[in-house]
Amino acid sequence: MTTTVTTTATTTATTLPGGTWTLGDRPVTRMGYGAMQLAGPGVMGPPADRDGALAVLREAVGLGLTHLDTAHAYGPQVTNELIRDALHPYAGSLTIATKVGATRDAQGGWPAARQPADLRRQVHQNLESLGVEVLDVVHLRLGTAAGTAPEPISEAFGALADLQREGLVRHLGVSNATAEQVREARAIAPIVAVQNLYNLAVRHDDALIDELASDGIAYVPFFPLGGFTPLQSAALSAVARRHEATPIAVALAWLLHRSPNILLIAGTSSVDHLRQNVAGAGLPLTEADLAELDRIGG
Ligand SMILES: NC(=O)c1ccc[n+]([C@@H]2O[C@H](COP(=O)([O-])OP(=O)(O)OC[C@H]3O[C@@H](n4cnc5c(N)ncnc54)[C@H](OP(=O)(O)O)[C@@H]3O)[C@@H](O)[C@H]2O)c1
Repeated sequence: MTTTVTTTATTTATTLPGGTWTLGDRPVTRMGYGAMQLAGPGVMGPPADRDGALAVLREAVGLGLTHLDTAHAYGPQVTNELIRDALHPYAGSLTIATKVGATRDAQGGWPAARQPADLRRQVHQNLESLGVEVLDVVHLRLGTAAGTAPEPISEAFGALADLQREGLVRHLGVSNATAEQVREARAIAPIVAVQNLYNLAVRHDDALIDELASDGIAYVPFFPLGGFTPLQSAALSAVARRHEATPIAVALAWLLHRSPNILLIAGTSSVDHLRQNVAGAGLPLTEADLAELDRIGG
C-alpha cells in the first residue's frame, strides 16, 4: 500500500556548499546525492552492504541534503527500495528525482523501454517502490549506456507529459539527451532538469549548461567524479595539493562554481566519503585554479 507524502515546499535555509536551487516549485540543496552505486556490483542487486547503504542515505538527509537521485532500473528497484526503507515517511523538504526509459536484462544490460506503455509501467513501479502517490521529478532517460543517440523523442516525452497531467508526476526532466532532444522536449512540456554526463574532463555540454541556466532549468551532471573511471589529471592533483585538499573536493567545488544551475549528485557507498564530499565541495577556488582546471576539459 502506498502512503501519501506531504511535499509542501519549505524555505530551505542551508549552509551547505552551493546553497539552494528551485526545481519547479521544489527548493533543493545544490549538494545532493546519487544512489545508483548503492544497488550492488554492476548496479544489479543485492547491495554489497545493505546496512551500510541505509546508513549512507540517512546520513545524506541528516547532513541536510534535500535532493536524491535514483531510477527504477538501479538494481532493478533496489535503490528505490533502499531509499524507502531508510527514509520513509519522507521529510516534506526532500525531493526524490527518478528516471524511466530503460530497463535491465539478465546480463545487466540497459535495454531501452520507451514505448508509452513501458513508461506508464515504470512510473507505477517507481511510485510503488518509493512508496509515494506522486513522483517529484521524473527524467526520461534517452540514448544508451554508451551515450546519447539522436532519436526522436516526441512520442515518449508526450507519454510522460500525459502521466504528469494525470497527477502522477510533479515535474519532468530528460537525461542522456542531446541539445536537440532537450529542445524537442521543451516544445512538448516544461522541464525542470537535464541530467547528462559532465565533469571536469567531459565538457561537451558547456553551451547547453549556459542556455539552461539562462532559462532557470537545472543541469545535473551524472558521473561528476568520473563514475566507474575516477577523474585523474595532473592539473587536478596540483590544484588539490595547493589547497591541501583532495582531487575529489576540487572536482566538486569546480562544478558548483561552474554555473548556479548545476546540482551535484555525486555517489558514494561510504558515510565518511559523503561527509568529505559535503565538506570539501565548498573549497574556494582562485582564478589561477580555474584557469588551470579549464585546461583539463580543453
Ligand atoms: N542518467 C544517467 O544515465 C545516469 C548514469 C550514471 C549515473 N547517474 C546518476 O549519477 C549519480 C552519480 O554517478 P556515480 O555515483 O556513478 O559516479 P560519481 O559520482 O562520478 O562517482 C562515484 C564514485 O566516486 C567514489 N567516491 C565518491 N566520493 C569519494 C570520496 N570522497 N573519496 C573517494 N572516492 C569517492 C565512489 O566510491 P565510494 O563508494 O568508495 O565512495 C564511487 O566509486 C549516480 O548515483 C546516479 O544517480 C545517472
